[in-house]
Amino acid sequence: MSVIIAPSMLSADFGILDQQVEMVNNSRADWFHLDIMDGVFVPNISYGFPIIKAIAKIAKKPMDAHLMIIDPDRYFENFRELGVEYLSVHYEACTHLHRSIERIKSLGMKAGVALNPHTPAHMLHEIISDTDFVLVMSVNPGFGGQSFIENTYNKIRKIKEIIKDHSANCLIEIDGGVSISNASKLIEAGADILVAGNSVFGASDPVKVISDLKCI
Ligand code: DX5
Ligand code: ZN
Repeated sequence: MSVIIAPSMLSADFGILDQQVEMVNNSRADWFHLDIMDGVFVPNISYGFPIIKAIAKIAKKPMDAHLMIIDPDRYFENFRELGVEYLSVHYEACTHLHRSIERIKSLGMKAGVALNPHTPAHMLHEIISDTDFVLVMSVNPGFGGQSFIENTYNKIRKIKEIIKDHSANCLIEIDGGVSISNASKLIEAGADILVAGNSVFGASDPVKVISDLKCI
């Protein structure tokens, strides 16, 4: 399977949102990555349902929503209604993570567990077999355009081992500071999905960056 590329709309220009969505539609990108922040779990507020609705209206590719919010279970149905196909919740934000994952799946979405940089890979042992994908934060969540944390490569390898040990069917998504310069090393370590915000939307030719990431 070739790597899945998910441009993060957090770095898009919201003044020309429709054009930015069309750019992703017409590129080799696979998913739309949507960052939802509540100003509590992370020190930033991003966007909510009206923006997702506007994106969903013209998006021709699956939407992957990354919930950086406390008590995310309150909104699972809303995301499903908006057409989100991949929904991840943070390990650190869910007291009853197993229940949350099961609910996401029962609503017909793929369920992901997101880990902050300080959360050890081994915390996944008891949930990996129930999870469709693990989102590894390679920056501290909250903002686009931050520098990549180098320990991520080790963490990916450890998660890959855990997936193998449990014979789990689980993909690994990397989110934060991903660019052409670290993409091949991430794929080598075991990444299946690459989220890219600033490196795509900050480029003069975003379609080319997406295609370069896809071809690595
Ligand atoms: C950060 C978000 C990321 C962010 C990535 O909290 O989860 O998805 O948009 O942006 P870049 O690729 O610019 O680091
Ligand atoms: Zn994200």
